[in-house]
Amino acid sequence: MTSAFVRACRREPVARTPVWFMRQAGRSLPEYRRIRAGVPMLDSCTRAEVITEITLQPLRRYDVDAAILFSDIVVPLRAVGVDVDIKPGVGPVVDRPFRDAGDLSRLRPLEPSDVPYITEAVRSLVAELGERPLIGFAGGPFTLASYLIEGGPSKDHDRTKALMYGDPRLWHRLLGALAGIATSFLQVQIAAGASAVQLFDSWVGAVSPEDYRQAVLPHTSRIFAALAPAGVPRIHFGVGTGELLGLLGEAGADVVGVDWRIPLDEAARRVSPGKALQGNLDPAVLLAPWDVIESRAREVLTRGRTAEGHVFNLGHGVLPETNPDTLARLADLVHEASARTPA
Ligand code: CP3
Repeated sequence: MTSAFVRACRREPVARTPVWFMRQAGRSLPEYRRIRAGVPMLDSCTRAEVITEITLQPLRRYDVDAAILFSDIVVPLRAVGVDVDIKPGVGPVVDRPFRDAGDLSRLRPLEPSDVPYITEAVRSLVAELGERPLIGFAGGPFTLASYLIEGGPSKDHDRTKALMYGDPRLWHRLLGALAGIATSFLQVQIAAGASAVQLFDSWVGAVSPEDYRQAVLPHTSRIFAALAPAGVPRIHFGVGTGELLGLLGEAGADVVGVDWRIPLDEAARRVSPGKALQGNLDPAVLLAPWDVIESRAREVLTRGRTAEGHVFNLGHGVLPETNPDTLARLADLVHEASARTPA
């Protein structure tokens, strides 16, 4: 029996709307903070038994319809030798940021043997999860390029866009290399048994639709096209991408992720036919009293019904200060409020 999550991604009928949460594992959970105590982030991402345990933690609390692999978008970059680390409270930082064509040699293709811990963790998770699907993921080309070029998190992505506008030839070579690495990283996860994949191009909302089409879409299209033969649903997500939703779908995704800035019925109008939607409760709503959360979640479900398929999620990751009990209650509410009576 195909899971409700995969069925919704394929725009097939479901008995109730499937739900999972971006960053459902992580700092909002005390058991996560315990297992991570004294272990650097990227170390925890290279130990199969730690990856497996952290991925499973939220499933013991929440009746979510999918697990997402515990990893990070910079894991494949580190695996090919890029000097990237994750600083607590900061995010990814790169010692020697990407500057010129000479730096392309630091981005060799990713081989499955570079990430044995991913294969091992995905295999053991798939065995453990049974019917429950595991979502694999990778970082999108713009977002990875931004960390490499800026050397760390950036609000406006100035240097990144300076390269995009100023040296399109080098930009396309860089994004081509990053797209290749993301493709291999996703293929490793699919080969080991992942049921779906999500491409997180989180910061691509920084560019205009015309620039997205020229500078990013060709690379993202290559990623999704390379995955098509695998037949697993492909989800494409970014923050602040209201003006890009049509293009995110056009790049070859089956499911378009929507942040909280645009209601799902409007998002459904912006994507072409044949796409499901994922989203889009503002993560900050979970910090409000329950009656507010409930009415906002019901609103998301109602608007989500205008899409050809809907996977309930937040508009971005779970905030670290979120009460886990609230997420448990929300998952149950989504299931109860969306239950369809069998025809
Ligand atoms: O969703 C999940 O439960 C899977 C785990 C996951 C992590 N990173 C674990 C993590 C996923 C899907 C990611 C992807 C990721 N990483 C993205 C795309 C998703 C998004 O949020 O838009 C981005 C942009 C990154 C880069 C990154 N890594 C950031 C911005 C941070 C946060 C920095 C901070 O400390 O505030 C990280 C670190 C990171 N990745 C943490 C976790 C649980 C926190 C590290 C810790 O626990 O100390």
